[in-house]
Amino acid sequence: MTTPTTPPDAGRRELTVALLGGGTVGSQVARLLHESADDLAARAGAPLRLVGVGVRDTVRPREGIDQDLLTDDIEGLAASGADVVVEVLGGIEPARSLILAAMAAGSSIVTANKALLAEDGATLHAAAEKHGVDLYYEASVAGAIPLLRPLRDSLAGDKVRRVLGIVNGTTNFILSAMDENGADYADVLAEAQALGYAEADPTADVEGYDAAQKAAILAGLAFHTKIPLGSVYREGITGVTRAQVEAAIAAGYVIKLLAICERIERSSEGEAGVSVRVYPALVPARHPLAAVHGAYNAVFVEAAAAGDLMFYGAGAGGVETASAVLGDLVSVARRHVAGGPGLIESTHAALPVLPVGRAITRYQVTLEVIDRPGVLARVARVISRAGVSVEAMRQSASEARRPGGEEAGPATATLVIETHTAAESALASIVRALTGDEVVLSVTSVLRVEGS
Ligand code: NAP
Ligand code: HSE
Repeated sequence: MTTPTTPPDAGRRELTVALLGGGTVGSQVARLLHESADDLAARAGAPLRLVGVGVRDTVRPREGIDQDLLTDDIEGLAASGADVVVEVLGGIEPARSLILAAMAAGSSIVTANKALLAEDGATLHAAAEKHGVDLYYEASVAGAIPLLRPLRDSLAGDKVRRVLGIVNGTTNFILSAMDENGADYADVLAEAQALGYAEADPTADVEGYDAAQKAAILAGLAFHTKIPLGSVYREGITGVTRAQVEAAIAAGYVIKLLAICERIERSSEGEAGVSVRVYPALVPARHPLAAVHGAYNAVFVEAAAAGDLMFYGAGAGGVETASAVLGDLVSVARRHVAGGPGLIESTHAALPVLPVGRAITRYQVTLEVIDRPGVLARVARVISRAGVSVEAMRQSASEARRPGGEEAGPATATLVIETHTAAESALASIVRALTGDEVVLSVTSVLRVEGS
């Protein structure tokens, strides 16, 4: 599928670039545009000239950016008709209005803005098609890692079955530190913010919104389907406890915040569609995703013909993300120079996004139970009544029992149950039934097990 053909710019002396945003990413884009000018010109087929950098504060000096290029007339810069407008402001507004104004003025767009793409990508794609301009957004998912282009171009002839990955650097940084050093959640979050990984409001990272936006973008490209952000199931890591991290290690797992995009050929209710979800999950310690530490990201793609592919690298950081922005910029520039058709969104499959209840995976459920004959059988009956098969069940003396001894009340035990694969809806009914059962004192942890 193609957009209207734009006339070639071959023979042009230069292409103009307007940069909206001069923060963590924008300042690195400006620096690299300047420092690598000759290489970029050779690769793009024409010199790229930065004509302005839109910011709020034009007084503060910024490393790598010529002070004369700074402007707070961001609307004017966006609509100035530059060949390419690079948007690295973040957020929905004014970024959306500025991008639309830039497209109307004939500019192609390079953006790193996953929030906007996930929230209203359809409007941007429609405007790009209408105005015959390009819309590139490699940096919006997994920072420096070339991931969107492989999904959109290299795998265009294949059928992607599953995308499974760690796409948020901040949460991986936090979970890795909790896992490896027993670090405290709040301290590590502050460190991630200081290093520039976390979003301005870290809620987006730790509550899984950032990963959900990226999952929506990935699933859209992987399954040629529009994925409304509201259809992405999301849980963050703020509920992950130190006890869960320690129990995971003891059982041979690590906890990772995963984005999972899956094609479901036939759900328990007989529907075909896709499942897109984000949640903290247990990953076996031997799985390659378990070895992804710090702010790194890694994404597995399972495709019908290509088999399993893995993408790994820096998922955040100014200069790393600038690499992906500049890659897009060179692609857009080459097309301006050569002319010819551009890209448009491929959403022909139009698969329904199924509710999370249809997702199928394995589960680990931890209970505090009364320790007396028949309890194991009773718990097993609740699980089997929901049509779920138990893979393993381990009982140990509960922590709660130790300080008070037998006199402190009925003997209690910790029960860890791992299931075979089952639908989320079946798991939810098991948890409801166990929560109300007289032998169950509490359901202390419910985690999915992925990647095994
Ligand atoms: P940032 O450091 O907060 O920079 C934002 C820039 O935009 C600042 O220069 C700010 O100006 C400017 N700005 C914001 N609102 C403005 C407005 N209304 N008018 C004029 N200027 C405005 O953000 P960032 O970390 O570079 O992120 C930029 C984008 O890249 C976001 O979409 C983010 O999600 C994405 N991204 C970031 C990373 C990363 O590791 N940081 C990785 C991948 C993708 P002032 O400097 O004057 O305040
Ligand atoms: N806050 C994001 C992260 C930045 O931690 O992954 C990259 O999108």
